[in-house]
Amino acid sequence: MSTGGANSIAKKRVAVLISGRGSNMAALIEAAKASDYPAEIALVLSNRPDAAGLVRARQADIATAIIDHTPFGKDREAFERALDAQLRAHRIDLVCLAGFMRRLTPWLVTQWRGRILNIHPSLLPQFKGLDTHRRAIAAGVTEHGATVHFVVAELDAGPIVAQERVAVRDGDTEETLAARVLEVEHRLYPQALRAAAEGRARVDCSGTTTAGGT
Ligand code: GRF
Repeated sequence: MSTGGANSIAKKRVAVLISGRGSNMAALIEAAKASDYPAEIALVLSNRPDAAGLVRARQADIATAIIDHTPFGKDREAFERALDAQLRAHRIDLVCLAGFMRRLTPWLVTQWRGRILNIHPSLLPQFKGLDTHRRAIAAGVTEHGATVHFVVAELDAGPIVAQERVAVRDGDTEETLAARVLEVEHRLYPQALRAAAEGRARVDCSGTTTAGGT
């Protein structure tokens, strides 16, 4: 945990992991600008050198790192050891996955137990995995949404920190629904990170404890 001066509140140091455009990353950076926000974005890390989000992070004066997964081939743990070293070098307290398209192994999840959040574009446990908006429309559900959860080894399965619903409208396409959910994501992720950074959302032996705010 980071420490501040005698009269300052210690902000949690957060790494945001991305693979693409980084709109959720940008929402977290924006939220963290508030002086009373309990976390600072200390690092944006991408596994793709060409991720558009890296440009946005640099424009916001956030430290960036690239760990390209391709040279590691199938050795996922070697990739993750490099990732883990970066997180430790930047004295990271909490990790936010934001469109990070690599599955984490049990090794990394154990190292960072209760300290990794992910945002998923569905009302978990519905529609784990990819193509959530297309699958929601195909299933004919009337409500869809977004979820922030703690990461466990099983995909999209960890304790839920925050969830918000959106109505599925007649005539919605994958694109219109995705846009409506994304708007929710940009509000939900900063709220959930705040709850985790303040210790109001945390993993205990029985799952998640949450109180207030989200
Ligand atoms: C978001 O829909 C998020 O829920 C999912 O991947 C997408 C990332 O978008 N995990 P962005 O890179 O944050 O714009």
